[in-house]
Amino acid sequence: MAKPEIAKLGHAALVSTDLEKSLWFFKEIVGLEETAAIDGVHYLRAWGDFQHHTLSIEQGDSSYVKRIGWRTKTNDCVLGFKELLQQAEVVVEEFPKGTTPGIGDAVRFQLPSGHTFELYYDVEKPDAASEYKSILKNQVYKAHRKGTSPRRFDHVNIHTSTNANYTFDFLLDTLGFNLREYVKGEEGILAGWMSVTSLVHDVALVQKPTLPSKARVHHISYWLDNSQDILRAADILREQGIPFIGPGKHGISQAIYLYVIDPGSGCRVELFSGGYLIFEPDWEPIEWTRDEQLTVGNTYWGDSVQDKELNNITIEAR
Ligand SMILES: [Fe+2]
Repeated sequence: MAKPEIAKLGHAALVSTDLEKSLWFFKEIVGLEETAAIDGVHYLRAWGDFQHHTLSIEQGDSSYVKRIGWRTKTNDCVLGFKELLQQAEVVVEEFPKGTTPGIGDAVRFQLPSGHTFELYYDVEKPDAASEYKSILKNQVYKAHRKGTSPRRFDHVNIHTSTNANYTFDFLLDTLGFNLREYVKGEEGILAGWMSVTSLVHDVALVQKPTLPSKARVHHISYWLDNSQDILRAADILREQGIPFIGPGKHGISQAIYLYVIDPGSGCRVELFSGGYLIFEPDWEPIEWTRDEQLTVGNTYWGDSVQDKELNNITIEAR
């Protein structure tokens, strides 16, 4: 059988200690649409997201990211990954279609860093309710209906206190991600931006020994079409008195960013635009030193992420 492949980032599953506040933040301020609310779990997506949901939120006693979901290239890839992971002695759990609404047969497992990933192929792609449905046949909802209005789910940025080299090897060798840019330290890669798509990253992994637990999420990210949309998002957040970092431009990925934290769960959201795409099949990963990361990589220009208390906030992942 051909090597199984991941096609794209699918969704993040978030648990919040204040569901009401998180729903207000993600629906009214970020501007996501709600596909369904089933058994206390709310399923949200951006106006241009086709799959059933790209974010789920439910109430819990603590706030954390339960898992990060990825869509495979074919249905066979799901079982292909199961076999590959079991050969690598990774514990894999199977979940039949519908365990998560809108998602088909799935397998779940943990990265060496402790983050739970889920792989599936089948997804439901429900239409928007008629009053919110776009006139455009290639778009789900009417655009820019509320809040900052991102088009789609873009990437996740995960942190670990463990030696990240094991997780980089796992992501690259077993799951098939391509390393696009990275920061090199004395003991290996300190931070890496990886993708299965033409984006510079679908996932970034950062090693930070000082974290309060081994698996953390620094942010989930939604894509806005234009840099101007990021400035408009800043106005919307400022009007609501919600603190944020940015706007600024990353040197690594060259994207425009703005970081804001969900006041319900503490989960950071990056509103993201610009950047560059990779089409070269023989892309050589771009290496940065730690000094270069601090001087130009994290912030090329604009509001710096460095030394900001807000930038150190991460949420637990299980
Ligand atoms: Fe990011």
